[in-house]
Amino acid sequence: MSLRTTTSVDYVEDVSPGSGALPPRAWYASSDAASLSLNGSWRFRLSATADAEDDSFAAEGYDAGNWAEVRVPGHWVLQGHGSPIYTNHLYPFPVDPPHVPTENPTGDHLRVFDLPDEWPADGGAVLRFDGVESCARVWLNGTDIGEFKGSRLPHEFAVGHLLKPTGNVLAVRVHQWSAGSYLEDQDQWWLPGIFRDVTLLHRPAGSALDFFVHASYDHVSGNGTLRVDSDVDGRVTVPALDIDVATGESVTVSVQPWTAETPKLYDGVLATEGERIPLRIGFRTVVLEDGLIKANGKPLLFKGVNRHEWHPERGRALDLETMREDVLLMKRHNINAVRTSHYPPHPAFLDLCDEYGLWVIDECDLETHGFVEQAWRDNPVDDDRWTPALIDRASRMVERDKNHPSVVIWSLGNEAGTGRGLTAMAEWIRGRDGSRLIHYEGDINCRDTDMYSRMYAAHDEVEQIGRDLDGGTHRRRGLPFILCEYGHAMGNGPGGIADYQRIFEAYDRLQGGFIWEWIDHGLKDARFGFAYGGDFGEELHDGNFVCDGLIFPDRKPSPGLVEFKKVIEPVRIEGDGSDGTVRVTNAYDFADLSDLAFEWSYQVDGKTVEAGSLSVPALAPGESAEVKLPTPPSGDGRGAETQWTVRALLAEDTAWGRKDHEVAWAQLPVSPRALPSVVASDRPSASERLIYVGPASFDVRTGALKTIGRLNVTDLRLDVWRAPTDNDEGASWQDDIRWASLWRKYGLHRMQHRLDGVELSDDALTVRTRVAPAAWEVGLRTVYRWTSDGTRLKLTVSVAPEGDWTVPLPRLGIRFGLAQADQVKWFGGGPGEAYPDTKSASMLGLWHASVDELQTPYVRPQENGARADVRWAELGGLRIEGDPEFWFSARRWTNEQLDAAQHLTDLTPTDTVWVNLDHGQQGIGSQSCGPGALPQYQLRAAPAEFSFVFSDLRD
Ligand code: GAL
Repeated sequence: MSLRTTTSVDYVEDVSPGSGALPPRAWYASSDAASLSLNGSWRFRLSATADAEDDSFAAEGYDAGNWAEVRVPGHWVLQGHGSPIYTNHLYPFPVDPPHVPTENPTGDHLRVFDLPDEWPADGGAVLRFDGVESCARVWLNGTDIGEFKGSRLPHEFAVGHLLKPTGNVLAVRVHQWSAGSYLEDQDQWWLPGIFRDVTLLHRPAGSALDFFVHASYDHVSGNGTLRVDSDVDGRVTVPALDIDVATGESVTVSVQPWTAETPKLYDGVLATEGERIPLRIGFRTVVLEDGLIKANGKPLLFKGVNRHEWHPERGRALDLETMREDVLLMKRHNINAVRTSHYPPHPAFLDLCDEYGLWVIDECDLETHGFVEQAWRDNPVDDDRWTPALIDRASRMVERDKNHPSVVIWSLGNEAGTGRGLTAMAEWIRGRDGSRLIHYEGDINCRDTDMYSRMYAAHDEVEQIGRDLDGGTHRRRGLPFILCEYGHAMGNGPGGIADYQRIFEAYDRLQGGFIWEWIDHGLKDARFGFAYGGDFGEELHDGNFVCDGLIFPDRKPSPGLVEFKKVIEPVRIEGDGSDGTVRVTNAYDFADLSDLAFEWSYQVDGKTVEAGSLSVPALAPGESAEVKLPTPPSGDGRGAETQWTVRALLAEDTAWGRKDHEVAWAQLPVSPRALPSVVASDRPSASERLIYVGPASFDVRTGALKTIGRLNVTDLRLDVWRAPTDNDEGASWQDDIRWASLWRKYGLHRMQHRLDGVELSDDALTVRTRVAPAAWEVGLRTVYRWTSDGTRLKLTVSVAPEGDWTVPLPRLGIRFGLAQADQVKWFGGGPGEAYPDTKSASMLGLWHASVDELQTPYVRPQENGARADVRWAELGGLRIEGDPEFWFSARRWTNEQLDAAQHLTDLTPTDTVWVNLDHGQQGIGSQSCGPGALPQYQLRAAPAEFSFVFSDLRD
């Protein structure tokens, strides 16, 4: 046992995966072998370079009393030592593989531990690291036991011979940068540290080492076949199936299969001479057959998300409860699949996927995206020197996760270009596990993969692929298609996912996709609310591109998740409300509808007047039934708007949802509303300073509205500007169609309002204007026509575009300020926000919220919070009725202030509430990394006329 006197750090820049570790194997928790968690508080010392300190700290007796402390699992940059860095694909260091900068933050971690009294004296022990970023060297009791790379992968060391009953010194030196960093260029924060568990495992004599559970399902016979291969012989028992066989022997029995919808797991035990290991066995068979990905004989339709591991305070150091929260949220939002972008997750996450039921694409910890900047020259995946590291990564993933029924596809990595190294990984995986399929999006010709996978392909291209009209190699054309990423959920959006879903469902070859991505990687920060790239003074960064999830950093669902839930709901409820029947279709792949209860309700002007249960047969997957609705309650006879709402709810509590949790719904209109009508009977009058029309007063010179009844109204005028969304801004590589910059170029944020005339007639005040930007010929001739029946005030706005409009309008409507508004009631779409192409989940009803509750807290402030199809709204004493329906939003700041804000903390409420009533809104799309709003959702400048009827509720 000798310490080296010189500190060599050559291993840091060595392309090899490391030395000293044990071969990879299955990750499991033994029932009886002892284990000791080494998580907790560790002593910590940060150095600026890899070799600033020698290794004397690893020696027994070293006094680290004056070191700082960090929490393990954790990232030191999130615990007050240094700062996180966010880049999408650019390496934050010079690209000169395998070299890394001399400035290489290096964290020495030290932990002294005793063995518990009951720790057996015999047998061996293994020290397991589940995740360390990016490279570590480990000493136990002064002995150098090895070094490793592969941040999101487990590494184990045999340490039994080094352990003592008390005073064991575990020293771990972690380098932020290493050759391994070149393989870990995922779009995420760079977060060094020991961020997953550290565990000491007792290994009794005769313990299992590694084992492989093969549990297949024959959908024709209904039988499952189980064989557990084990490095150490033993017996396998599964009491519920009366199975008691030797390892290596197959047994076939009748079973219930595992699927993501019906995640039946059988508890079993693998007993070797030295230990007992609990097994959770799911029988299922995944194949590529007839050009389709099939499980248990049926083609799958992935309704998936890409999940990074994220916690707003702890980064990628996730606890079990956070992982469970992710899984529960997914299940409750009808999601059936996860791609573990872009690395194997904490192993406990896969246990949860097995248990609750999610199809998993398990992705290897590999991305070399930054090489794209040099035309992929020197890409490690095409350089044989790196191949051992690549195979090491593939094998650590497969060996660790091979016993999970939820894992159906192995993914070689993400955005790593192409090369022999990837082929070598695929070959290794196929040789080891022929029972799963292989994915890699970068393999455009599907040389190594079992499916054609793309990211962000536009709707029309996906449809072409569905119709087999794409090009590509013969091999590729015979393969199924998935969108491993689509629906970029950055900020407000994603738009257009319902349109994708319709296409997926229309063509067998299209087997669904995975929204990018699950969670915003915002970091909780007192300065900003949530911080994103650039907030830590990074030299290079990609701003808020790291906040592109369906849930906010604090895991509150964003409107995008609510929309996705509706779009992918597993029951389709359709019909024409007036004919008294509804058609219910089971859109599950495996489950029948027996877990669901159906309810109908009947609304008159948004108010539910009757409700009851609806009896729907336990339809098999794909089946439909026509179900009779009850006789409609009689309406109120005054032209009320009426509709049915039919909902599918969980009939009982399940593992992931409570009884009555809503799974699917639809509304079937019966009779339309009567539009508000105001007979222009009031004759306008004028005084020296004011014009009066019914309850309202106007400035005599400008025609500007001043009061309605006793309410002051400020600055009512046409508005076309919205604080651009991330999708309006578009991705930097989509220059030709980045709407926000074109909008700014054409001055839509600085429209001038020229007054052309204020005219009084017998029954109306007419204000003529031209709304146009400086420097351009385009404009909107805008006429405001005010009339009244004496109590109510009607505004009709007519807009006629002039000039050559080449861009859509962000919005088209009016805005005004109201003092002291707080609670809002409306009859229209809700409860959440909606835009033309994000409106599936907008449910017609009577809703209320405070102005603050109407805001959607996108991490980077932007247009948000519009409610769709609003018939009427009330706030601050004002009632507004629309003809036709309108988009409603209200906030305590102007759209200009919203636009200027970079973080939520930049928004300071004022006393005035700014209200927008829009006739049109531009669609959202997903152009922050994908296609823009489809043409049918674009708000083209065109002649328009729309009206609002105002009344002062307090009169
Ligand atoms: C993809 C990539 C993801 C993420 C996304 C944009 O190209 O695979 O990791 O960067 O784009 O948010």
